[in-house]
Amino acid sequence: MSERTTSGFQHSLLLMKRSLGYFMPYKKRIFWGVVGMLIVAPCAAATAWLVKLAVDDVLINKDMQALQLVTLGVIGLMTLKGVFRFIQVYYMNTAGLYAINDVRKELYHRIMYLPMSFFNDTQVGMLMSRILNDVGLVRTSLPSLIMLIREIFTVIGLTFYVFYLDWKLAFWGVLVMPLALYPFITFSKRLRKLARKAQVSVSDVSVLLQEGLSGIKVIKGFATEAKESQRFDTEALNYVDVSCKQIRATEQSSRIMEIIGSFAAGLVLWYGGSRVIHGDLTSGALLSFLTSLALLYEPIKRINASNMDLQMALTGAERVFEIMDMAKLVSEKGGQLLFDEPFRELAIEDVTFSYDNTPRPAIESLSLLVRAGERVAIVGPSGSGKSTLANLLPRFFDPQKGRITVNGRPLRDYDLKSLRRKMGMVAQDTFLFNATVAENIAYGAVRDYSQEEIEDAAKAAYAHEFILELPQGYQTLVGERGVKLSGGQKQRLTIARAILKNPPLLILDEATSALDTESERIVQLALENLMQSRTSVVIAHRLSTILTADVIVVMENGRIVDQGPHAALLARCEIYQRLYEMQYGCAS
Ligand SMILES: Nc1ncnc2c1ncn2[C@@H]1O[C@H](COP(=O)(O)OP(=O)(O)OP(=O)(O)O)[C@@H](O)[C@H]1O
Ligand SMILES: [Mg+2]
Repeated sequence: MSERTTSGFQHSLLLMKRSLGYFMPYKKRIFWGVVGMLIVAPCAAATAWLVKLAVDDVLINKDMQALQLVTLGVIGLMTLKGVFRFIQVYYMNTAGLYAINDVRKELYHRIMYLPMSFFNDTQVGMLMSRILNDVGLVRTSLPSLIMLIREIFTVIGLTFYVFYLDWKLAFWGVLVMPLALYPFITFSKRLRKLARKAQVSVSDVSVLLQEGLSGIKVIKGFATEAKESQRFDTEALNYVDVSCKQIRATEQSSRIMEIIGSFAAGLVLWYGGSRVIHGDLTSGALLSFLTSLALLYEPIKRINASNMDLQMALTGAERVFEIMDMAKLVSEKGGQLLFDEPFRELAIEDVTFSYDNTPRPAIESLSLLVRAGERVAIVGPSGSGKSTLANLLPRFFDPQKGRITVNGRPLRDYDLKSLRRKMGMVAQDTFLFNATVAENIAYGAVRDYSQEEIEDAAKAAYAHEFILELPQGYQTLVGERGVKLSGGQKQRLTIARAILKNPPLLILDEATSALDTESERIVQLALENLMQSRTSVVIAHRLSTILTADVIVVMENGRIVDQGPHAALLARCEIYQRLYEMQYGCAS
């Protein structure tokens, strides 16, 4: 994050304006919050006035009527204050909650539409921290700004009042006010810096937390619990450290303001006192003036406090908008063309693709033609670019050179949604949502599927039987918080998902993790059903897939080194021979 000094104020102003925009839909709540505030504020002064009445008229003059008035007045005033204080706090705070909810929603929605390349080099924990922690800070932006404005007006009003009481005395009282400006600005800056540090620190903790919890198996497997705990301790301590500094700065700021305030009181006391001694001021007048000065002092303290909240809010806003505004954060955008004709062919034409910040392209000058009805198997050593190639087809990434066409039209021309609906991706790693089995199979449905259709898909994927044995059958919750399934079972569910989606073009990245022979055989049968009468591009690790393919493409270092049927490749392609021997252990 860059330090902004030159246009710091302007930058804050822009951040503020933008944050306030999110409060606009909740004008009514804010209106009532402000009304509450406007009624509550003078209540304090009115109470003070009642106290004066009680002392002068009731205690000194022994006026019975005044006693009744004061009694009723105190009760009435407290009730009024209570009611409107409730209105003020309730409406102001709920407006804040709704506003940050909108910020959070907008951030999440934007993130959902970002291209895969964004997720490729962004930490999940960091994103979660921005969505949860940083957005939360924005909540106080408007309320503290309103507080700030209110207190500034109070200070101005009271200043006029003390000048009206005795301008000579008042002059000494406000003489030190400009002095207060310096610590006010300095501490604002420091607090802002610390708030930034704190948010970075929270984010670091979140990243670590996310990593540790999702990698718990590896951690336990390598018995590194102590080391990971230690790592966490360091980060957590770092956060406490910054938080301590925040507390220190906040307190220092308040206390320095107090000390400056005491200078004002001292000056007035000294000047006023000497006037009392010389007889040109009554002691009562001096006392009343000092009281007014003390009254002035409260709102100044609150200005300081609101300012700190505001600095925190601006820091949060800064970090949230930073994500929203990242230059490369353009939502993925497809063309206008709707893919509504039958699939005829897919052509990859001289495509080169590199991931960001990698020196070597993952795919280099690659060309390949896939016609409708064909089964193309892609084989190659690990890291040769097979999965990368598969990711280019639904435009998870766009190639830097060359182009990919479907039915003769470049992928970019197609509406993304309609393009992706035509492609069924079964990825190397299975993913199930926290939902029922039926919902998981019907995930991404364009229409409502009947139970029968879902069951048919499950049957074709050889999943029906094990699903029936689950506690609630198709209504059993699976995923993170549900019933845990075996690797093969999960794979069959994702195959059922693809069967139900019924895409004309299937992109299959066969899982490399080995299943035992029995589940392997069942998954194979399920895949066979899936690929039947469909065009498929299969990154093949199974012998059966390779043997039934129309054409086998051999890749190495992002290039196609050879392609042809199994027997021909086995006879002429060295890399293929090596792969074949290694994977299936049967030397030719
Ligand atoms: N998300 C990524 N970001 C940056 N580089 C990547 C990414 N994914 C893969 N790579 C790099 O691109 C190259 C091709 O990787 P790819 O995953 O396509 O290989 P693969 O052929 O699918 O391997 P495997 O058989 O092990 O799955 C590798 O050198 C890899 O390091
Ligand atoms: Mg792969």
